[in-house]
Amino acid sequence: VITRLEVRLPSIEPNTIDRSYLIYIDPDAGAETRLAEEVRRRAASSTIGLITDETVAGLHWPRVEAALAERGLKVVTVVVPDGESSKSLKTVEEVADRFVRGGLDRRSLVVALGGGVVGDLGGFVASVFLRGVPYVQVPTTLLAQVDSSVGGKTGVNLASGKNLVGTFHQPLCVYADLTTLSTLPARDLSSGLAEIVKHGVIADEALLLRLEERAEEARAGDPALLAELVRRSCAIKAEVVATDERELLSDAPGGGRAQLNFGHTVGHALESASAGGPAPLRHGEAVALGMIAAARVGEKLGLGDPALEARLVALLPRLGLPTDLDRRLDGPTLERVGVDKKRAGGRVAMVLVPRIGQAALSPIEPHRLGEILLGRKAR
Ligand SMILES: NC(=O)c1ccc[n+]([C@@H]2O[C@H](COP(=O)([O-])OP(=O)(O)OC[C@H]3O[C@@H](n4cnc5c(N)ncnc54)[C@H](O)[C@@H]3O)[C@@H](O)[C@H]2O)c1
Ligand SMILES: [Zn+2]
Repeated sequence: VITRLEVRLPSIEPNTIDRSYLIYIDPDAGAETRLAEEVRRRAASSTIGLITDETVAGLHWPRVEAALAERGLKVVTVVVPDGESSKSLKTVEEVADRFVRGGLDRRSLVVALGGGVVGDLGGFVASVFLRGVPYVQVPTTLLAQVDSSVGGKTGVNLASGKNLVGTFHQPLCVYADLTTLSTLPARDLSSGLAEIVKHGVIADEALLLRLEERAEEARAGDPALLAELVRRSCAIKAEVVATDERELLSDAPGGGRAQLNFGHTVGHALESASAGGPAPLRHGEAVALGMIAAARVGEKLGLGDPALEARLVALLPRLGLPTDLDRRLDGPTLERVGVDKKRAGGRVAMVLVPRIGQAALSPIEPHRLGEILLGRKAR
């Protein structure tokens, strides 16, 4: 049974098109034919672009491409190397150039078939290609299905940090074929579970309890449980995005869209610092560690739920996620928080959790972060 969730968005000005869109959550075999039909219905030109990465090109692209071709679409596919390094301006240029040579024009749409890397890159390319063409997200990792494919944040990395160049560009629709999760490596499944934990902590304690109840089955990839988790997570993300699409309401109670950055202040610093080293962290692994950091900061400042850190430390390993924050965090890594774009006026806007199921944005002095998180190491 396909679930349809709506991301409700206002039109930018009167008489412009409704930008609301659907997230399709399809747990059944043969999803590629239904997905291809949705793409064909929305395609104004029969030549479309498709971005994917090497792994997904081997596993899922053939049946998706065949289904699209069967509906009369000419698919210009660009395969990028796996991993964060493809989120670069250089890749944007290469993909756009291939699309031009493949015959895409302003009426063409782009399909992003893959995890968060392909989704962020594909969305960004679509937003700037010929000054902007529509795109469809087809997320194939748990992380992309529960988080990155929804909400229209696109972007690439710079040497100085993650996601520092990007756009808001909402997709025409998101089509999550849940059968793709059966090929996902355990580590990537765990990485996606971290963002589900995040959604539970900031917005839905019942979702967190569900994970605590069934952590081992989630980690083992139980399809019915994953389908439920994807639905509940997408509902939370859709709701938050609908209230604050462009992350402008950070001063509102709860922090608006910025609350979704829970765990990401320190998480992004750890992720960037580990990239290119001997043990790079997956995005969700870094977020897991960043959530522990935020829980500790909240408790020490008297602004966060005092039970949160212990609850995270108990749950995360059961989901295959790391908890060794103290071993991984050092002064130079914490310095990277300084280039985080969420920084404002010398202070770092950090998402804290006053009560599980609720978030709040608090400005923190960077030196306080160091004192709390590095303790003796800092001196
Ligand atoms: N835009 C947003 O709102 C948002 C939100 C959260 C995260 N992100 C971004 O998402 C990225 C992380 O996404 P990710 O964890 O999906 O990483 P990813 O896209 O690199 O995918 C992880 C790995 O899984 C492989 N893979 C993908 N689908 C597969 C499948 N079905 N079977 C087997 N292997 C498969 C990929 O080839 C890759 O090697 C980061 O760059 C992060 O910044 C963006
Ligand atoms: Zn994230």
